[in-house]
Amino acid sequence: MTEPAPDSLDPILRPWTAADARACLRVFRRAVSVGAAHAYSVPQRHAWSRIPYSFDRWRQRQARNLTLVCATCDGTLAGFTEYRADGHVHMLHVDPAFTRRGIGMALLRAGDAILTARGVHHRSTWASHVSKPVFARAGFTATGYRLAPAADQRLLTWRMVRRGGVSCESIR
Ligand SMILES: CC(C)(COP(=O)(O)OP(=O)(O)OC[C@H]1O[C@@H](n2cnc3c(N)ncnc32)[C@H](O)[C@@H]1OP(=O)(O)O)[C@@H](O)C(=O)NCCC(=O)NCCS
Repeated sequence: MTEPAPDSLDPILRPWTAADARACLRVFRRAVSVGAAHAYSVPQRHAWSRIPYSFDRWRQRQARNLTLVCATCDGTLAGFTEYRADGHVHMLHVDPAFTRRGIGMALLRAGDAILTARGVHHRSTWASHVSKPVFARAGFTATGYRLAPAADQRLLTWRMVRRGGVSCESIR
C-alpha cells in the first residue's frame, strides 16, 4: 500500500468543540517549540509554550472565542485559529508536520468570512516572526512591534492590522 502524498491530506475545517481543547494545546506547544525554532531562542520558546494558567482556562478561552480547527481525514488535529469577537486573531498555530500546505491561510480565511458575515471588518493581531508573512499575504500591514513578556523572556511580536472593506476574496 502506498503512503498518501503529503498534499493529498484533504484536511477538513470545522468549528472547535470542547473535545478539541487538549489537541489544540498539543499543536500550540509543538508549533511554538518546533515550528518557531528558526525564529526564537530555546528559552524564548520555552517561555512562550508554558501557558501561565490552567488547562480549564485554556478550554474556556477557546470556547469563548471563535475557534476553528483543521483536522486530517484520520482525525489528527493539524491546526487551529482563534478570533476574538472584535476581529483580533488571538491564535493561529499549525503543527510543524503540516505547515506550508495552506492550512494556516485556510483557517484565517474561514474565520475571516464568518466575522465579515457578522459585520466585523477590522482585523488585528500580534504576529510572530513566523506568522508575519502569512498575515501579510492575508492583507494585514505591520504598524509596530512590542517585546511581549513571557515568563522571564521577551518575545518580539508585530502589531498587524487590516482595516475594513477588504473582502475575503482578496486573501485567496
Ligand atoms: C505561522 C503558521 C501558522 C503558518 O501556517 P501554515 O499552514 O504553514 O501557513 P500556510 O501554508 O497557509 O502559508 C500561507 C502563506 O504564508 C507564507 N508563509 C507561511 N509560512 C512562511 C514562512 N515560514 N516563511 C515565509 N513565508 C511563509 C507563504 O506565502 C505561504 O504561502 P506558500 O506556502 O504558498 O508560499 C505556522 O507556521 C505556525 O504555527 N508557526 C509556529 C507558531 C507561530 O508562530 N504561530 C503564530 C503565532 S502569532
